[in-house]
Amino acid sequence: VSETGSLSIIVLGASGDLAKKKTFPALFNLYRQGFLPSNEVHIFGYARTKISDEELRDRIRGYLPKGKEGTQDVSNFLHLIKYVSGAYDAPEGFQALDKAISEYEISINSAEGSSRRLFYLALPPSVYPQVCKMIKNYSMNRSDLVGWTRVVVEKPFGKDLASAEELSSQIGELFEEPQIYRIDHYLGKELVQNLLVLRFANRFFLPLWNRDNVDNVQIVFREDFGTEGRGGYFDQYGIIRDIIQNHLLQVLCLVAMEKPVSLTPEHIRDEKVKVLQSVVPIKDEEVVLGQYEGYKDDPTVPDNSNTPTFASVILHIHNERWEGVPFILKAGKALGSRKADIRVQLKNVPGDIFKCQNQGRNEIVIRLQPSEAIYMKLTVKQPGLEMSTAQSELDLSYRQRYQGVVIPEAYERLILDTIKGDQQHFVRRDELKAAWEIFTPLLHRIDNGEVKSLPYKPGSRGPAEADELLEKAGYVQTHGY
Ligand code: BG6
Repeated sequence: VSETGSLSIIVLGASGDLAKKKTFPALFNLYRQGFLPSNEVHIFGYARTKISDEELRDRIRGYLPKGKEGTQDVSNFLHLIKYVSGAYDAPEGFQALDKAISEYEISINSAEGSSRRLFYLALPPSVYPQVCKMIKNYSMNRSDLVGWTRVVVEKPFGKDLASAEELSSQIGELFEEPQIYRIDHYLGKELVQNLLVLRFANRFFLPLWNRDNVDNVQIVFREDFGTEGRGGYFDQYGIIRDIIQNHLLQVLCLVAMEKPVSLTPEHIRDEKVKVLQSVVPIKDEEVVLGQYEGYKDDPTVPDNSNTPTFASVILHIHNERWEGVPFILKAGKALGSRKADIRVQLKNVPGDIFKCQNQGRNEIVIRLQPSEAIYMKLTVKQPGLEMSTAQSELDLSYRQRYQGVVIPEAYERLILDTIKGDQQHFVRRDELKAAWEIFTPLLHRIDNGEVKSLPYKPGSRGPAEADELLEKAGYVQTHGY
């Protein structure tokens, strides 16, 4: 398959929020860095609204990185974008799209040219099946040229196991697995991508990373704002479907998986699936749900909503490495800070001759955002004449260590991967299924009102019961960072 020649990136749902806020800015950044050469790449926006090329470009302009508005880069980039309007179930629309793409392919291809078509579905999942059918019937890459057709889809992939499986089989009838890219943008984050390197390229961690040394693991996501304008959408999903079942579970896989045979996407994803399949059913007494006060003030949220905006869930992995080690996944909206980190807390040191146990344990912290960092909490001698101990940190803060290095946005990396055909950082169908298997029974109990969301104050740490659950799981609060 030719990896040069014409490349068409088709953004379906071009006038929607995701496209404007994430997809087009990521494409612009790739363009600016030379990854989307003007003589090969063309971008097509497709949506129902009847607007001109110029109007779409104007809408996108406002979302490109601040300070770049008037630059040549911006006008060159916007010039690559064409707009086609049509319905998501209309053959005419997709035929018109096909015609526009083909004209472009012919205009730039030499005799042995190529036809590479990347369809980015920045759309609600309810229309995925019909849109995929339209693409398959009317807009596939030209068969007389080498190339490919790929589709990129965003979460939510279903609401539970049954709906996700139905969606997977509908899309699976139209496209082969190597053509389908299910995005979980957490897999594009710098420190998430660093997890395998950290674990498998460092002798420090190899012997520690197991039930003999690790007491508990926390994977925590906090946001300091509520559902703001997305209440109606959010209320149908809740924090478990929005963050935990996908983003945090993906992180858990990378923290807990065995070393893959190689770095090929299939070897890595095989190991992730094994972790998911080893998770035992969740017990209600190991779940705390919360809903922040004021959530239901949003007129689009029903007054009797039990939808959690906060959840803390303990998972247990039934295998040789992790038996008995609780993995605490915690996520919340409208909390006191915005932060996402992984905390691997080690067991106490046996024979504590310094009597320093109450000062805290060794902990390896991987801060995903903001201010990416890896630090290890450890006990040292307090500098000075006395022999006393204190907790301190070995600190690798990216801002200091990698001054001036720009960390790419998750979406930039992931879009580049879709162009290269690298599926390592995308969710495979069996992985998705296994992830839904873990959470579906609990989600159904929540949907039926059998597990209640407790109120918590916006700007707080969430319900106090979550801290109690954490303590019960064995986590010891340490000082410092
Ligand atoms: C999205 C969720 O997937 O991730 C949002 O739907 C959430 O609710 C967002 O705000 C968080 O992403 P990030 O990259 O800002 O942590």
